[in-house]
Amino acid sequence: MMHYIDPLIAPVEAAFALKAIVAPRPIGWISTIDPSGRDNLAPYSFFNAVEDTPPMLLFSSSGEKDSVRNARATGEFVCSLVTRPLLDAMNRTSAPLAHGESEFDHAGLARAPSSLVAPPRVRDALAALECRVVEIRTLRDLGGAETGAILVIGQVVAMHVAARVVRDGRVTLTGEGVAARLGGADYAIVGETVSLRRPGAG
Ligand SMILES: Cc1cc2nc3c(=O)[nH]c(=O)nc-3n(C[C@H](O)[C@H](O)[C@H](O)COP(=O)(O)O)c2cc1C
Repeated sequence: MMHYIDPLIAPVEAAFALKAIVAPRPIGWISTIDPSGRDNLAPYSFFNAVEDTPPMLLFSSSGEKDSVRNARATGEFVCSLVTRPLLDAMNRTSAPLAHGESEFDHAGLARAPSSLVAPPRVRDALAALECRVVEIRTLRDLGGAETGAILVIGQVVAMHVAARVVRDGRVTLTGEGVAARLGGADYAIVGETVSLRRPGAG
C-alpha cells in the first residue's frame, strides 16, 4: 500500500516529503559580500551543478535572504565544499544572524582569498568554486504566481581544489567524507562508491 500526499491539501507534509525523497542533496556553501565589503556565508541544499561546459551552478533561496541580496548587488558568489570535518561549522553558518554579521566569524571559520571574485572561500574546504551571476529569477508556480523562491544561476570562473585530492589531473573525492543533506535534520556522508561504464562508452 502507498501513502498518498496532495501538496495542495498538505503543503507542510509535502515539503518534508520532498526533502526526504529528493535526497541526498549536495550542499552549496555560499559565500558572498555586500556592497560595503562585509562577507556572508550560508548553506543551500536547493543547489546543484546544472552544466559542465561552461561549468554552471544554481542555488535557490526560499525568500530574499542575504546570499541572494549580495549576489544580486555584486554579481558574485563562491561555493565551498562541505566534508565531514566541516559539517558542524556549516550548520552554524545557517544561523539567522543580523545583516552584516559574518557567519565566518560566528562559526570560527578561516577565510581564504578568491582569485577572480571578491567573496572569500572557506579556507579548510577541499574545493571551492568561484562564480559570477548569469541570471537571477523568481520561481513561479503552475498558476503563474510567485512562489517566493529565487533562483541564482552562476557560471564558475575559477576552481580551487586541495592538491592532495587531484590524482593524474583528475579530482577524486572518494573517501573524503563529502556531506549531503537528507530529510529533516539528517545528513549523509558519502561512503560506498560504485563505478559503472556508460553503455556505448567503449
Ligand atoms: C544544510 C542546509 C541547507 C539549507 N538549504 C537551504 C536552501 O536550499 N534554501 C534556503 O532558502 N535556505 C536553506 N537553508 C537555510 C539557510 O542556510 C538559512 O536561512 C541562512 O540563514 C540563510 O543565510 P543568508 O541570509 O545569509 O543567505 C539551509 C540550511 C542548512 C543547514
